[in-house]
Amino acid sequence: MAQRACGIDIGGSGVKGGVVDLETGAIIGNIVKVVTPQPSTPTSVIEACHDVMTQLDVPADVPVGISFPAPVVHGTIPFMANLDQAWVGVDIASLMEQRIGHRVAVVNDADAAALGEATFGAAKGVGGVIIVTTLGTGIGSGVILDGKLLPNTELGHLEIDGYDAEKRAAASIKTAEDLTWEQYAARLQRYYSHVEMLFSPDLFVVGGGVSENAGKFLPLLKLRTPIIPAMLRNTAGIVGAACATGSHAATK
Ligand code: BGC
Repeated sequence: MAQRACGIDIGGSGVKGGVVDLETGAIIGNIVKVVTPQPSTPTSVIEACHDVMTQLDVPADVPVGISFPAPVVHGTIPFMANLDQAWVGVDIASLMEQRIGHRVAVVNDADAAALGEATFGAAKGVGGVIIVTTLGTGIGSGVILDGKLLPNTELGHLEIDGYDAEKRAAASIKTAEDLTWEQYAARLQRYYSHVEMLFSPDLFVVGGGVSENAGKFLPLLKLRTPIIPAMLRNTAGIVGAACATGSHAATK
């Protein structure tokens, strides 16, 4: 495996990148961030990634991992929840390689977070079934079994009580509906109880910006499964994407 890799995290508001030491998970040098272009079409977002790469001045032999907020099946996007619909059917891995000129691995954003947490973060060294969920604009999920990723699980789109789960329990819904922590915890209780019933995991890890306030809602949840906040916080996407360059789960 390469000693370092570049990670680029594509999100709804920003595209950010950095070079990651794959031995330690540390970011080498600066993190570069540009605003996600609107509309967030393939051409404009790929251009934003190119911009980030140019600013980082990454040597050509350093592989690039990209974290993307949709399932990525053999490099292609089968459906898109929170960026422009023009992404559907696009072979993102090939287009990125053509524009960026590096070897590129593209992975779902929650899968990237799961790889990062399992390699360097809250789930490091933990065996069994780990479910990493990211609570943000939507809900992402990354499932790890004994250190290996089961990609593209999309557990944010489970239908619970007639709703797409992320439309009830994503962090964006807490803001949109102005829910108190107690009200939000009740939504999360319904969600995690259901996922727990389906998978009986050994550990839940909760990521996304809202996990900075984990102390306000995780203690309110009653589950059999231990549930802990993610450790990598705002670098999770970059570090996880960089990890994906060495992962069989990363598709291209
Ligand atoms: C997408 C997932 C993504 C999650 C978090 C969901 O709407 O379908 O692929 O991981 O949002 O960004």
